[in-house]
Amino acid sequence: MRASASLRGLVRETALTADRLVLPMFVAEAGDAREPIATMPGVQRLSVAAAVREAREAAALGVSAVMLFGVPAEKDEQGSGAWDEQGVVQLATAAIKQAQPDVLVITDVCLCEYTSHGHCGVLRTGPHPPYVDNDATLELLNRTAVSQARAGADMIAPSDMMDGRVGTIRRALDDDGLTETPILAYSAKFASAFYGPFREAADSTPAFGDRRGYQMDPANAREARREIAADVAEGADMLLVKPALPSLDILARARADYDLPIGAYQVSGEYALVKAAAERGWVDERRVVLESLVSIVRAGADFVITYAAADVAAWLREDDR
Ligand code: PBG
Repeated sequence: MRASASLRGLVRETALTADRLVLPMFVAEAGDAREPIATMPGVQRLSVAAAVREAREAAALGVSAVMLFGVPAEKDEQGSGAWDEQGVVQLATAAIKQAQPDVLVITDVCLCEYTSHGHCGVLRTGPHPPYVDNDATLELLNRTAVSQARAGADMIAPSDMMDGRVGTIRRALDDDGLTETPILAYSAKFASAFYGPFREAADSTPAFGDRRGYQMDPANAREARREIAADVAEGADMLLVKPALPSLDILARARADYDLPIGAYQVSGEYALVKAAAERGWVDERRVVLESLVSIVRAGADFVITYAAADVAAWLREDDR
């Protein structure tokens, strides 16, 4: 049953289509319209106007969902840029929704892009070494989510990994009348070295220590199931697993256990590895990217967040001919 392309097409179990892809974008408050990111060839930090253009171009290729990350001009201890009504993500959300109402805008809820220390929550200092204060962070995440939804975000995606945040964000949104805004919960997010290039892009490398105090240990699969169960109980509308390729077992298990839509995030390091090898001619970029994405969908993802989304949509069109 593998002898010809038409026979293989007939029995193929998994289809990759552009409408299952989400394009992440970094929107920067300062700087030029487009600033290259050294560790992520092909990805740029964008001004609000450039982000609108990028969303329009992606939509023209069939990618109709974007995920926004903010790079503020100023950072502070609390990360107050995250919930600023005039913050860069809030402005970009409003601008994209106005120019392209059909594009789904998903906003990242986390403080690490906005804090001067680069951690995902507020720090507690005292007699002990500084650590991220889970419960004090929740209130700031609530404010961030509400401000993004008010700006027009179609969906809120908390990536901070604080305990209890799905429930408190749900209540905060509902209390503000934002009852229709769904939550895409980063339920199983591992403390991963694959996030390296992202931190370069968002200038969010922790000033001290690392994120293992709140992101999950990659060695733990049962814990991932508990994290997912907690987010479902707290009201998550969709689940996210990341990094994608290193977590296919987690994804497949979540698919078997839950009927909720599940996404996977092919993260910056996964993207960068392929780019670097392809630049040297060591792998065929297009085939490696398409194979990894179809494997992620095969494992159980309904949709994939990937920096290659627009390229992939263009490749899929060529294949159609
Ligand atoms: C914010 C956040 C990160 C990523 C998504 N949201 C960085 C981190 O946790 O350090 C990583 C995505 C990627 O690497 O592409 N907390």
